[in-house]
Amino acid sequence: MKRLKVGILASGGGSNLQSIIDKSLDGSVNCDIVVVISNNSKAKALKRASGHGIDALHISAVTEGSEEKVDKRIVSEMGSRDVDIIVLAGHMKKIGPNLLDAYRGKIINIHPALLPEFGGTGMYGMHVHKAVIASEEKESGPTVHYVDNEYDHGRIIAQLKVPVYPEDTPEKLQKRVLAQEHKLLPGVIQKIAEEWES
Ligand code: GRF
Repeated sequence: MKRLKVGILASGGGSNLQSIIDKSLDGSVNCDIVVVISNNSKAKALKRASGHGIDALHISAVTEGSEEKVDKRIVSEMGSRDVDIIVLAGHMKKIGPNLLDAYRGKIINIHPALLPEFGGTGMYGMHVHKAVIASEEKESGPTVHYVDNEYDHGRIIAQLKVPVYPEDTPEKLQKRVLAQEHKLLPGVIQKIAEEWES
């Protein structure tokens, strides 16, 4: 059975990356992560990747000289490893036009709220959870969606819901949502791997 080759872009802690690594190792997700790329040299995601023997690359405008070169280098790193899909797991940069063209319909992102609400410019990290609480929502939860050239905009693939409690802080809500992210994202990748087979 073919294993899906996954390339990951991650800017931060990489707990979503870790959930995919763990599930690819225990056999519940039929994929291999072949490269992890970060715009942030200090991203824990890079350490997690190299700790598992996965190629871990810091690629940024500082290393390449411009965002255009970053975009082209990422296409080349993904291409040379025959990546089937690209997963944005806490990637804090907009995807460049070359990458989007080369992998149209093959890039997915995880967002920590129920899109189409609470997405778009400025809606990242704790800002999202603060906005959900300020709007007195009763539910929140992660969304996995295809990536297009607008932030948090492409077709929604799957969501999971969690309750929002009146006494919630953004930190408490983030933790509850993140726990669901770690189920949702590997689950979507497995589904894509199964569809790949058929
Ligand atoms: C997650 O909340 C994800 O939804 C968002 O960025 C965060 C990344 O967390 N896009 P981690 O780096 O995977 O721990």
